Amino acid sequence: MGMATHVGMLCLWLLCIPICLHLASTSAQSHNYMIHMDLAAMPKAFSNQHTWYLATLSSVAASLNSDPSSVSSKLIYSYQNVMNGFSANLSPDELQAMKSCPGYISSIPDMTIKHDTTHSPHFLGLNPVGGAWPVSKYGQGMIIGLVDTGIWPESPSFGDQGMSEIPSRWKGKCESGAQFDSSLCNKKLIGARFFNKGLLSQYPQAFLGVNSTRDTDGHGTHTSTTAAGSIVEGASFFGYASGFATGMAPAAHVAMYKAVWEDGAYISDIIAAIDSAIEDGVDVISMSLGLHDKSLHADPIAIATFAAMEKGIFVSASAGNNGPLLETMHNGIPWLITVAASTLDRQFHGTLTLNDQVTLTGLSLYPGNFSAAQIPLVFMGLCDDMEKLIQVRSKIVVCENVDKPTLWNQFQNLTAAKVVGGVIISNNTLVRYIFEPSPFPCIFLSVQVGEIVKNFIKSSAEPKASIVLKITDLGTAPAPCVDHYSSRGPSKSCPFVLKPDVTAPGTLILAAWPRNIPVTDWNLHEELFYNDFNLLTGTSMSCPHVAGVAALVKEAHPDWSPAAIRSAIMTTSSILDNTFGLIKDIGDDYKAATPLAVGAGHINPNRAIEPGLVYDAGIQDYVNLMCALNYTQKEIMVITRSAAYNCSNPSLDLNYPSFIAFFNASDSTSTSHATEFHRTVTHVGEGPTIYAANITEIEGFHVSVIPDTLTFMEKNQKLSYKLRIEGPTIKQEQVAFGHLSWLSMDLKYLVQSPIVMQCSVDCVVEESTISGRLLCSMTTVIWVSVMGTASSFLPRAKKFLLL
Ligand SMILES: *[C@@H]1O[C@H](CO)[C@@H](O)[C@H](O)[C@H]1NC(C)=O
Ligand SMILES: *[C@@H]1O[C@H](CO)[C@@H](O)[C@H](O)[C@H]1NC(C)=O
Ligand SMILES: *[C@@H]1O[C@H](CO)[C@@H](O)[C@H](O)[C@H]1NC(C)=O
Ligand SMILES: *[C@@H]1O[C@H](CO)[C@@H](O)[C@H](O)[C@H]1NC(C)=O
Ligand SMILES: *[C@@H]1O[C@H](CO)[C@@H](O)[C@H](O)[C@H]1NC(C)=O
Ligand SMILES: *[C@@H]1O[C@H](CO)[C@@H](O)[C@H](O)[C@H]1NC(C)=O
Ligand SMILES: *[C@@H]1O[C@H](CO)[C@@H](O)[C@H](O)[C@H]1NC(C)=O
Ligand SMILES: *[C@@H]1O[C@H](CO)[C@@H](O)[C@H](O)[C@H]1NC(C)=O
Repeated sequence: MGMATHVGMLCLWLLCIPICLHLASTSAQSHNYMIHMDLAAMPKAFSNQHTWYLATLSSVAASLNSDPSSVSSKLIYSYQNVMNGFSANLSPDELQAMKSCPGYISSIPDMTIKHDTTHSPHFLGLNPVGGAWPVSKYGQGMIIGLVDTGIWPESPSFGDQGMSEIPSRWKGKCESGAQFDSSLCNKKLIGARFFNKGLLSQYPQAFLGVNSTRDTDGHGTHTSTTAAGSIVEGASFFGYASGFATGMAPAAHVAMYKAVWEDGAYISDIIAAIDSAIEDGVDVISMSLGLHDKSLHADPIAIATFAAMEKGIFVSASAGNNGPLLETMHNGIPWLITVAASTLDRQFHGTLTLNDQVTLTGLSLYPGNFSAAQIPLVFMGLCDDMEKLIQVRSKIVVCENVDKPTLWNQFQNLTAAKVVGGVIISNNTLVRYIFEPSPFPCIFLSVQVGEIVKNFIKSSAEPKASIVLKITDLGTAPAPCVDHYSSRGPSKSCPFVLKPDVTAPGTLILAAWPRNIPVTDWNLHEELFYNDFNLLTGTSMSCPHVAGVAALVKEAHPDWSPAAIRSAIMTTSSILDNTFGLIKDIGDDYKAATPLAVGAGHINPNRAIEPGLVYDAGIQDYVNLMCALNYTQKEIMVITRSAAYNCSNPSLDLNYPSFIAFFNASDSTSTSHATEFHRTVTHVGEGPTIYAANITEIEGFHVSVIPDTLTFMEKNQKLSYKLRIEGPTIKQEQVAFGHLSWLSMDLKYLVQSPIVMQCSVDCVVEESTISGRLLCSMTTVIWVSVMGTASSFLPRAKKFLLL
């Protein structure tokens, strides 16, 4: 792109020594920056980028009359793949001088990043008899790289019995470090690297936990075994959720890139991790983290994953845990898959039997062995008086919380009072995951069931009850449901591509856990529980499910692009739950989830292996999209790292397996408003096939597809169609949606795409959205109260952050 040659010539004229100008400013604290450079401006005299970057930093030092020998300590990383450039710790003067260096394009300040199973494979229909597992040989030979908190290599889920040899193309390493010896790697765990130079450069006193890939948090051990853990018989969480534990792709190899540390995570380290993963030759990257509210060209995750996509690496990223309001997601990046989170058809229960007569059931997930027969029961209302609670601690204490943000305090009070057993009456949907597992025996009852307990206590002279815990119920309905916390679209960075893409299991997922880290960290309680498995909740948990499924699809179709694999996962996902209704949204009063919550649906790995049709997209398609977003050439080049692309064909209409259009609700009189989408599908099934289109009716809109049949003569043939949306013709609510389905004549393939019409101007706001808003602010209240409490609660707070 134009400017490159200009700078290159400038450099030749300056005898290939970068000269940077000194523009005076007051000296202040230094900061880490990621500096994008134009490689076309690199003088030929430099043998590689690294020496050029060092020379550039040297000139910066020289221009400021400071010691050029200090330069090597300023450079943090030279990136090879994710961007043309480096990260460095620079003072404001140095940054200013850097901006005048030949080849300088732009800089991004370093920033911290928020890091957001026995049953789930079965729930997803994976089995040894047919479907994705046998077809893909369980993901054999695939390598899944995770950017996370590290790994606990001793976990049985990293056993390598029956694993195939390490692929010869693998260039990764198993690095030794504190409490981590390279001999801990095997044929399952084939890579272990750690990145903390950015963190230490910005924050030299940072507490690392251990300076190695060893996981001192548990998160990375959990996510990596969700994606590709080996099969472990007899796994359970203290008797709950027992069965065999396995990752989605149990025969795939795992490579851990640790860039999230006890004291935080810096983007310069995260993208260094992605840089290495690309270099090492992973097939799939799973990233349960993201940055909010950044344009694509200012989001280092978007930049780094573009490079991964170019190399054919599939990237799965979490949508975030900031639901249920719209526009709360991160990683709304068109070249990766963005994953929402939903529930399994599994609940953990306990029972409370009143005077040996009436048995009531509620949610419960206490890890200890507890049962109580005929213990006195006492109602303590809001449970806000510690002294009184301590007086009744030998009883089963019943607390009530209906729609109050003090739930956290009540739970804390019961924990601190060390009550024998607790019963909390609440209709807050958060109890399903935030207070589980609980550090003391506790049952959560719904408001209706709670009334029975309250009346019983009121009406009996000596109320007593028995408690039985550790009941795992399977087949609960409706399931899956999009969970409350799961972040919703549209993507702020690119609203024209419908996000999230799919949903996957995220609530109370069982996967491996470090032996030496307690499964709950409520430090107030004396009893700490340790286990090889733990139940965690969040889009962090759903993201590696999709990474594992992508490995299965890629094993079966090694030549498919990341966009084709994503299309296969999206168009085959299920829009129905186990009651055969549309998947519901817990964050919207169990109404049908819109695609802004559920994406194309709930992943269905057995069908994703054979999707029938795929929507493909390549680099130039994404460039055309960025051109239409009105990015400058410089901004596009920061992402593409190359001047080989131009904006001769800008288009917001990416060849994507979903559709989103925006409308002005006040404009209901005019029917002239029409949005057209053009799509090209590739027939990946065998032999001649005819597909027919069907569109669900969307009230107030007219949606048509032209042509409405597609006749393929041979495999890999491409055909195009046009989808046209007219309207609205009536006053609309905020989001209207439907689906376009292409069904093959032999009924073998159903290729489904969500269609969303989003009101951008003047729409009716539904009641449920308002209640969603209330619930959301409640989460915030709890969250703030967590941050504000005694430090003994902070570990839990950290865990919540990591969800
Ligand atoms: C961490 O380990 C790396 C490599 O083993 C070493 O270079 C670095 O100095 C260590 N950092 C700290 C803070 O111990
Ligand atoms: C609970 O009981 C089981 C089986 O008797 C035992 O293996 C386990 O260690 C006990 N758990 C605790 C936390 O005491
Ligand atoms: C007990 O609950 C009350 C009200 O919910 C709260 O203000 C107080 O901080 C709690 N006490 C402890 C020790 O958490
Ligand atoms: C909880 O119950 C109260 C009282 O019945 C009701 O006003 C409130 O809307 C309910 N909240 C939720 C989230 O269901
Ligand atoms: C890009 O700029 C054109 C011309 O100014 C404008 O019509 C269009 O709406 C802009 N596109 C976006 C996505 O903002
Ligand atoms: C833009 O790129 C296209 C496709 O690579 C090429 O055909 C065309 O000549 C280029 N246009 C300009 C002005 O460089
Ligand atoms: C929406 O439509 C109304 C009625 O036609 C019009 O007055 C208004 O300017 C439109 N708003 C936008 C942002 O286009
Ligand atoms: C489209 O699907 C609906 C059910 O979703 C069905 O009732 C209808 O007959 C189908 N239409 C066509 C043209 O196949």
